[in-house]
Amino acid sequence: MFEAIQKLPPDPILGLTSAYESDPNPDKVDLGAGVYKDDTGVTPIFASVKEAERRWEQQEKTKVYISPPGFADFNTAIQKLILGADHPALAAGRVRSVMAPGGCGALRVGAELINRFKPGATIWVSKPTWANHVPLLGSAGLKIAEYPYYDGAAHGVDFAAMCRTLEGAAKGDLLLLHGCCHNPTGADLNRKQWDAVTEIAARRGLLPFVDLAYQGLGDGLDEDAYGPRTLARALPELMLAYSCSKNFGLYRDRIGALLTVSPTPEQADAGITHINSIARGIYSMPPAHGGALVKTVLNDPELRARWQGEVDGMRNRIHTLRALLADTLKKLGAPRDFAFIKREYGMFSFLGVSKEQVQRLRTEFSIYMVDSSRINVAGVSPGNVEYLAKAIIAVL
Ligand code: LMR
Repeated sequence: MFEAIQKLPPDPILGLTSAYESDPNPDKVDLGAGVYKDDTGVTPIFASVKEAERRWEQQEKTKVYISPPGFADFNTAIQKLILGADHPALAAGRVRSVMAPGGCGALRVGAELINRFKPGATIWVSKPTWANHVPLLGSAGLKIAEYPYYDGAAHGVDFAAMCRTLEGAAKGDLLLLHGCCHNPTGADLNRKQWDAVTEIAARRGLLPFVDLAYQGLGDGLDEDAYGPRTLARALPELMLAYSCSKNFGLYRDRIGALLTVSPTPEQADAGITHINSIARGIYSMPPAHGGALVKTVLNDPELRARWQGEVDGMRNRIHTLRALLADTLKKLGAPRDFAFIKREYGMFSFLGVSKEQVQRLRTEFSIYMVDSSRINVAGVSPGNVEYLAKAIIAVL
């Protein structure tokens, strides 16, 4: 079998990390994979999470198999974090969740669930969307269709075009929405736009599948959940894939959640039995460690407050870095206006340069970003911003 196998090109996002690591240039800048970094380029472990790990280590008595949905006190805490403790869908007993191996695990199991009950269903994704959405959803058998989302010239959401396309979607189609901090553009829906999308989904009978991977890094923990909370108030059904990679810094521990809102508590329970059986057929049960840390943080008031402070700190620093990059480009005489970077949310923005210019930044300046010119703003620092801005201006 292996005789016939041809090598694949590197992953468009993760491949950048290895290329960056093997680059000997001391001035190199990594704006590739969406991981948070401090001013020294390190992705730190949250102090609250480290403390949770210390406590968990003392408390943990066994490494025996975990039940398929994971820890019950993880699931209740994550449901409240996502939907808000007083959400009517929670009060009605219509919400369920399971722990999953990262946001990717949640997306894939969710896609398999959809394909089990709606084989070959169409799922609408934003144009552009995160590069891994298509393989994750498509490999489960779903048909991918695109709705227009980002207007490159205006550096913002083309909401009118998005709505026009969604009005043409068929009843029962799935609608993938980025809960906040749109990846790769950083251009988010505002509240009025979320309300309008909710109305279209309700009227046209679309089932939203929300990817919430950056809660707290856009505008605030509650603010960033406005979309899914609104959808879950208005619609009978919702699916949501959650990632704790970024907002708990638990990237390699692979912890996320798949959440469902169903019309009735009985249907919610039935849905979970299928989710568990799908997970059983792929990885049997979720890894426990990350979930143990998240539940320890969320269920202890003091640790939770410390964690929220750390998330606030990350968000504020990202906003500062956005301003630093845009202002430095302006100060150094960039022939274009990059002020849009300040208006966007989360880790990503599209720089708006061509693939050839991205290649030049990589080969001539050792600056690494995704070919689409998506930058991870958290990779900018006071120490590299002038070098970076000069290089961008040089290739414009
Ligand atoms: C990203 O978009 O860079 C991150 O979500 C990392 C990944 O897995 O692609």
